[in-house]
Amino acid sequence: MNIALITGSAGLIGSESVAFFSEKFDLIVGIDNNLRQYFFGEEASTDWNRGRLTADHANYRHYHADIRRTEELEPIFKEYGSDIKLIVHTAAQPSHDWAAREPFTDFTVNANGTLNMLEMCRLHAPESVFIFTSTNKVYGDNPNYLPLVEMETRWEIDSRHPYYANGIDEEISIDHTKHSLFGASKVAADILVQEYGRYFGMKTGVFRGGCLTGPNHSGAQLHGFLSYLMKCTITGAPYTIFGYKGKQVRDNIHSHDLVNMFWHYYQAPRAGEVYNAGGGRHSNCSMIEAIAICEEISGNKLHCTYSETNRIGDHIWYISDLSKFMNHYPKWYWKYDLKQTLLQIYDGMSQRLAV
Ligand SMILES: NC(=O)c1ccc[n+]([C@@H]2O[C@H](COP(=O)([O-])OP(=O)(O)OC[C@H]3O[C@@H](n4cnc5c(N)ncnc54)[C@H](O)[C@@H]3O)[C@@H](O)[C@H]2O)c1
Repeated sequence: MNIALITGSAGLIGSESVAFFSEKFDLIVGIDNNLRQYFFGEEASTDWNRGRLTADHANYRHYHADIRRTEELEPIFKEYGSDIKLIVHTAAQPSHDWAAREPFTDFTVNANGTLNMLEMCRLHAPESVFIFTSTNKVYGDNPNYLPLVEMETRWEIDSRHPYYANGIDEEISIDHTKHSLFGASKVAADILVQEYGRYFGMKTGVFRGGCLTGPNHSGAQLHGFLSYLMKCTITGAPYTIFGYKGKQVRDNIHSHDLVNMFWHYYQAPRAGEVYNAGGGRHSNCSMIEAIAICEEISGNKLHCTYSETNRIGDHIWYISDLSKFMNHYPKWYWKYDLKQTLLQIYDGMSQRLAV
């Protein structure tokens, strides 16, 4: 039997992975305890998504287990053992602002939880492919010291800089920089995943995400930028822009495109490899550009206020360079651009809000 085990399976990337891999594997084992609701409140609950997965995919089996507790993970790994061919580890505390509220919770979920998953994998399914969703926050605020130029609606990198053509590659340092506590706990996890590849020879891959997005995000103020922005544009709830005149740039990748990267990696894994994963030059926007598109799609005006204070460690300009991944996996390409992604987010959010 071929099994894909997915942590954070009711979250954005986890649920996309369930849908994608349910057609490629005999059984999908999902682990998610809806800790997202504890982090960000009722509106961020992923229960609705879990219900949808169970209804839509007959080969999906859900476990309400906590990745911080090996006593909850071990029985699952013992039951399925070497039938587990793929592990997609997405469960996390995903917000840098939230991490400072409860550093112990953040670290035990992100760092210890990842170590638990790696050890379970090594002991029970050492031949499986292990994919980890890291983040561009491992680079801390180093990208903010690049030569940036202010344009009318966005920050941009100087056109003479090597990052201008395709964005920021994996060579930028993760050291000597302000990460936020979230970034630090993800660095710990990121390095552990690499180490299990390099030291034990396991098939571990690290994907450092830019903004990951899609219609199944349970967007909240502290996490899920485009999803939350569209929600506010639809409902009329107030939205606050934090600093940089709203010109900060993010690249945005649709969850389907990211999970398709996982699929390509799974078929020809490279042990301990690290890839930047985002919308790149193909799909990116500044905050105010995103607002304009949300308003155009919804026909509503966003109730927006501006706060001079930026979020600590927030990137001013970040666009991922995917050249390394595309060299290793030349058949992969994005399916969705920014406008298509936002249209899907609008449709999904409108349906959920109407229920
Ligand atoms: N969304 C982004 O913009 C973004 C950007 C870069 C990296 N990432 C990373 O990608 C991954 C997935 O992000 P997402 O947007 O899908 O997040 P998400 O919050 O939508 O999904 C994560 C899921 O994990 C679950 N979870 C959290 N702690 C758990 C625990 N202790 N045990 C079991 N389940 C637990 C949550 O309930 C949630 O359903 C995370 O690792 C995140 O750090 C996300």
